Amino acid sequence: MRIVVGLFAALVMNTAFAAPTAKTTDTAKMNKFINNLMSKMTLEEKAGQLTQYSADMSKTGNTVRENYREDIIAGRVGSLLNAFTPKFTRELQQVAVEKTRLKIPLLFGYDVIHGHRTIFPIPLGEAASWDMKRIEDAAAVAAKEASADGIHWTFAPMVDISRDPRWGRIMEGAGEDVWLGSKIAAARVRGFQGDKPGATDRVLACVKHFAVYGAPVAGRDYNPVDMSDRELWESYLPVYKAAIDAGAATAMTSFNDINGVPATANDWLLNDVLRKQWKFKGFVVTDYTAIYELIPHGVAKDLKDAALQSFRAGSEMDMMSGAYPKYLPQLVKEGKISKAQLDTSVRRVLEAKYKLGLFDDPYRFSDEKRAEKAMLTPENRAVARDVARRSLVLLKNDNGALPLKREGTIAVIGPMADNQRDLIGAWSAAGSAMDEWKKAITVIDGLKQVGGSKVKVLHAKGSEFFYDEAMLKVQNEHGANLTKDKRSREEMINEAVRTAKKADVVVMAIGESHGLSGEAASRTSIRVPEPQQELLKAVRATGKPVITLIFSGRPLALEAEAAQSDAMLAVWFPGTESGNAIADVLFGDHSPSGKLPVTFPRNEGQIPIYYSHKNTGRPYDGKDKYRSQYLDVANTPLYAFGHGLSYGKFDYSDLKLSSAKIKPTQKLKVSVTITNNGEHDGEETAQLYVRDMVASVTRPVKQLRGFQKVFLKKGESKQVTFEVALEDLKFYDKNMKWVAEPGDFKVFVGTSSDNVKEAGFTLL
Ligand code: NOJ
Repeated sequence: MRIVVGLFAALVMNTAFAAPTAKTTDTAKMNKFINNLMSKMTLEEKAGQLTQYSADMSKTGNTVRENYREDIIAGRVGSLLNAFTPKFTRELQQVAVEKTRLKIPLLFGYDVIHGHRTIFPIPLGEAASWDMKRIEDAAAVAAKEASADGIHWTFAPMVDISRDPRWGRIMEGAGEDVWLGSKIAAARVRGFQGDKPGATDRVLACVKHFAVYGAPVAGRDYNPVDMSDRELWESYLPVYKAAIDAGAATAMTSFNDINGVPATANDWLLNDVLRKQWKFKGFVVTDYTAIYELIPHGVAKDLKDAALQSFRAGSEMDMMSGAYPKYLPQLVKEGKISKAQLDTSVRRVLEAKYKLGLFDDPYRFSDEKRAEKAMLTPENRAVARDVARRSLVLLKNDNGALPLKREGTIAVIGPMADNQRDLIGAWSAAGSAMDEWKKAITVIDGLKQVGGSKVKVLHAKGSEFFYDEAMLKVQNEHGANLTKDKRSREEMINEAVRTAKKADVVVMAIGESHGLSGEAASRTSIRVPEPQQELLKAVRATGKPVITLIFSGRPLALEAEAAQSDAMLAVWFPGTESGNAIADVLFGDHSPSGKLPVTFPRNEGQIPIYYSHKNTGRPYDGKDKYRSQYLDVANTPLYAFGHGLSYGKFDYSDLKLSSAKIKPTQKLKVSVTITNNGEHDGEETAQLYVRDMVASVTRPVKQLRGFQKVFLKKGESKQVTFEVALEDLKFYDKNMKWVAEPGDFKVFVGTSSDNVKEAGFTLL
């Protein structure tokens, strides 16, 4: 009987014998349709499908193309970015399907990074929730709104690992850790795309920026990346792979060069790694004008050369360089690019359009009735509020300064107190392009609404973000809308001090304006701008309890602020529901549960600083001079990766391993008891790290390999069990082979990367 079943299974699995399933007939139907269409296409029309221009609703790059409508009519455009709303996309789609020879619909892409109209916390903030379900939900809401607004395709998730807080785009990723980053990348792809290709409430995802855009030399945007193979393969590339394995439909090249070769013309990266090794089936779009940029990079002599190199390397859709429509047909005629390669790329783009159902109905996503009901709904806002409150990280809380009581007078002071625009952060899609920030809840309004009638809220702005004229000009040119108060700095501070004196407690709302992070927004100083530091000092001197909310798009160096605050929260830019989410946490309706996905240094000189560093041959011991250390500052960060307090107080005890020795086929069980010894209920994120004690190459002192969320009532204890499998112990050995080497390991479990219990085991 067994043999018969086995034989039957073998027959079914062999597609040659299998009866056609719905899927195979669908694919056959699609192939037939696309073959037929492609047989009619000229070389120019094919190159057109590989061309993307920006419409003029938003500006997300350095150049715009005036005559893109004429390009559409001429069949020279396959996709547009920066066009949305059902009305506008319908109008443009109509041009494509009514005025062009072959009536091929356009694909509309847009940067829907952390929400579309309902804005969620910046991605680094979302990552601080360590909550995969909620991160997926956030992407699904973003997809719902974007798809109702005519958009087919988001340029997200951005998954670039970054260990350099000077880099402004650290706000757009999931932080410093490859393991956590990979889980988040997959959750975001699932949220954007769902599992039914072509569903009208989802959008195609685009994993970016391939690759290693987050590690520019000196943290300056667009700078080169110079990295060892081992670091590349171990600490950076797996996140992109995780997004691709989760089904990301497209990928975007990065601006930077990698060890000398720009990503957009990087044959090894795109053809060998992405296509051959990772079996990526979607299409690759370049970043904005990245083909053209091969010229200033100094690897292409002109735009034709740049087109040739990019296409050969595997860059398939040209975003805004205008190189493919101009040169691809000619390069094919000259025999420099094969017709077959061109067809393969065109087919991938047409397949994406086909799967979205655009050939059946090009206006599927341009439905005004649906759009009217889809945006900023109470349901969407409720998800945004929950994600936002889960993203806040309680950095310190002395003497139970938080939660606040629902009575008495609270003074809210700082440039973020009564601010809406900055709450939604950078890369905020229609949040900024359509002024949806006007619907954001301010800190003051949140405190009033959530606090209730017994709470009196006073307010003073106290300071501008900064007074530097040059900085103000640049920020405003990029849409920051920062104004300057007529009063002098001194007058504003005095008013803030007077206000603080009238209150029982002060909530300081300070930090970066939204334009201090994001693209082209690197900083060498990662401080709260100086005028706000002065403001904090003056308020602190009143002797009132100070709760400081730090708004930022990156880790900041916060020693001074920590010293002048009783409690301090990293709130990032929490989005549309900012004020409500912050108030939920301050009043204790939600006990803070966020954990840092990235290290907060003491000062800029420590950068790059990350928890999974190597031990060195001379690790710090606190005694010997000839050790790896600074003369002027400790090696340790101010707040470590994984740090985040709660109103509960979680104690770890009784760490147990299922065995002191495991075989490669066995899984190690690691259990620990967590007790909430605090005064409040709360959720803890217990973290598991491993370390290989002796290996053929040097290994990090800790690597995250698991986490679990556990809700504990005041006084409650729970046992939490993790599993460590062979895969968790693997790394690239001396010969760049992915192996686990037998020998001694340590396993750590705790509340943050620098506060753990440890035990040892041996891999046989
Ligand atoms: C440039 C950015 O690097 C990229 O992330 C974005 O998707 C494109 N511009 C399009 O706006």
